Amino acid sequence: MKFYIITLLLCGCVMGVDIDKNTFSNYREVQMQHLHIEWLLNLNQKIIDGSAEYTFRVTTAELKEVHLDIYQMDIKYAYYPNFGKVLDWHVESDPKQSLIQGDKLIIELGQSFRYGDIFKLRIKYQIGEQARALSFMNIEQTDDKKAPYLFSQCEANNCRSMIPLQDTPSIKFTYSASVLTQDQQINVFMSGLPVENTKFSLMEQYNLNGIANIFQFELKIKIPSYLIAIVAGTVQERKTSDRTSVISEAKNIEIYQKELEHLDKYVKYLEDYIGDYKWGFYKIVILPASFPFGGMENPLLTFANPSIIVGDKSGISVAIHEIAHSWFGNTVTCNNWSNMWINEGFCVFLERKGLLQHYESIDLVYVNSLVGNDEMNALIKEFNSNHDPVIKSYASLHPITENHNADDSFSTIPYERGYQLLLYLEKLVSEDKFQLLLQAWLQQNQYQSVDENDFYNFMIAWIQSNFSMKDFLYIKQQIDSVYIKWIYNTDAPPYKYGFINDASLLATNLAEDWASSRPGEQPQGYEIFDKFQSNQKQLFLSSLLKKNLDPVTMKQLDSTYNLTNNLDAELLFRWYTLSIQTKYATDFTNLKKIRTFVSKIGRMKMINPIYKALDKKTAETWYNENIRFYHPLARQSIENIIKNKGLDVNVELL
Ligand SMILES: *[C@@H]1O[C@H](CO)[C@@H](O)[C@H](O)[C@H]1NC(C)=O
Ligand SMILES: *[C@@H]1O[C@H](CO)[C@@H](O)[C@H](O)[C@H]1NC(C)=O
Ligand SMILES: *[C@@H]1O[C@H](CO)[C@@H](O)[C@H](O)[C@H]1NC(C)=O
Ligand SMILES: [Zn+2]
Repeated sequence: MKFYIITLLLCGCVMGVDIDKNTFSNYREVQMQHLHIEWLLNLNQKIIDGSAEYTFRVTTAELKEVHLDIYQMDIKYAYYPNFGKVLDWHVESDPKQSLIQGDKLIIELGQSFRYGDIFKLRIKYQIGEQARALSFMNIEQTDDKKAPYLFSQCEANNCRSMIPLQDTPSIKFTYSASVLTQDQQINVFMSGLPVENTKFSLMEQYNLNGIANIFQFELKIKIPSYLIAIVAGTVQERKTSDRTSVISEAKNIEIYQKELEHLDKYVKYLEDYIGDYKWGFYKIVILPASFPFGGMENPLLTFANPSIIVGDKSGISVAIHEIAHSWFGNTVTCNNWSNMWINEGFCVFLERKGLLQHYESIDLVYVNSLVGNDEMNALIKEFNSNHDPVIKSYASLHPITENHNADDSFSTIPYERGYQLLLYLEKLVSEDKFQLLLQAWLQQNQYQSVDENDFYNFMIAWIQSNFSMKDFLYIKQQIDSVYIKWIYNTDAPPYKYGFINDASLLATNLAEDWASSRPGEQPQGYEIFDKFQSNQKQLFLSSLLKKNLDPVTMKQLDSTYNLTNNLDAELLFRWYTLSIQTKYATDFTNLKKIRTFVSKIGRMKMINPIYKALDKKTAETWYNENIRFYHPLARQSIENIIKNKGLDVNVELL
């Protein structure tokens, strides 16, 4: 029977094959079961004294060394906590990789462990500003202006800069933490539940006179390293329901609480589709504006950029997206960063099921899909025009991340291309059946790490037992005709979605009318713009980005819709990109507004397109002005953008 053969060929899960080439650890021989960290925060000096205690389980016949991932940290010593024996260690470093992926820390165990043995190890170390997962902020960079602030961003492979560990999404473990602070004003949250502050005894000897507080946390559900997270500052928590809350500095907390008052309802929407929420609480932190992403799905501690708080609840899709990760990403996880769509594609699919309940209109949901589709197609084109096969691969659902910082492959592709694949599969088997299939997939693979072969095999088996033989063979043939192409090819997906509907046509037709209007004139019915939902306005602007507008029409547009002064960053970044592209932004006032924008928001999605549109010299000037404000991850990506700017064909703007 032919399909069994194909199924076998698709399975890359042969013993001995490396699952994750972005880790230096020997995670196939020994695996973290539990991690306990102890951190003494010195936020004024931007230093953390850390200890990590690992509970390891041996998964090979004989183990003599433990290899862990580290990035720019100072290892003090390694020892067995139970009998205090100090162990030999050294760092193996490839100068070409050191600043890209980090180094390998090798700990010699001084004895052999056997398959199935469980043992504990402890490492004492220090980290500082070189830790690229961490953003240490000065008092002046905070909203409250009372104390320094710290937050982390571990995805993709950045946890290794704050803890030596097996930094791969294919290893899951439980964790706990004790965090000591020296300033009474500092409050700490981590991606775990707070526990009584004497639950874990301290591993290290401290002079407790200098200690203001001890915060302790515990997460009893197994997670991969990239979901460890911390925020410390003058942050407070406000409930929005029994199980949901908002965390932020005091200054804007009431505004945030109001904007996110319906969090619980959104959790409920997703539960209706996919099953119970298993993490207990849902908390969202509104971080300082330099946070480089819209959101980050740390369990019990979603991080979000303040740009999602618009005042009209229109930024809610980011919150729904992060909640959706509680199932896809945090419960079933990709096993390496080439498979990131296993997190993001599924998550977007679930996010839009939640949005359907929110908008009560599939048309409006598809407006989001269409905006995403536009972004995806632009990127597919951009990546394919590059001669580097690595960059080209970013257009597929299977980017090459080996020997690279996995963050480089980050784009909207795994989100939208992955979402569209799932939508295609849903159409094949019907909505009802696909919902059951996804629920069963989650049930079977929860708390594990998987790849697209696992999903394929699961899906085929499920369809086989839930359909007649005839239907099964037909569906399987359809799936097989697209699945591999959809994932591995770098050109457009084999099935093209229009997502066109009445709600989207209002936006795209209006864009069309403006583009074909005579300079200085308004098209008929131009007022409908004011009644658009935020996502229709986004679509309007992203459609204009594909047109050749002249500066006169741009000026007319601006005075008609007051776009340069809009308060919604989702609209502003598109409008500003358009303003640069069309050379509308040459007069001093406009350009100054854009320059201010990139100094106030550090969300890569919103500033990268602007940096891409700018000429090299202006981009460099603006970047240098804001280098201290930007997060290390944003710095890296803007530097890449500037580096890749060829000979300057744009008119210089300064
Ligand atoms: C991730 O796993 C896939 C198999 O699912 C493999 O083809 C790919 O090379 C792996 N990538 C990395 C970076 O390990
Ligand atoms: C669908 O297939 C799964 C997996 O084989 C099976 O457990 C389940 O009972 C089937 N559902 C129905 C309604 O037959
Ligand atoms: C344009 O928008 C800004 C900010 O919302 C507002 O203060 C201003 O009054 C608006 N101007 C006009 C002409 O509507
Ligand atoms: Zn996501």
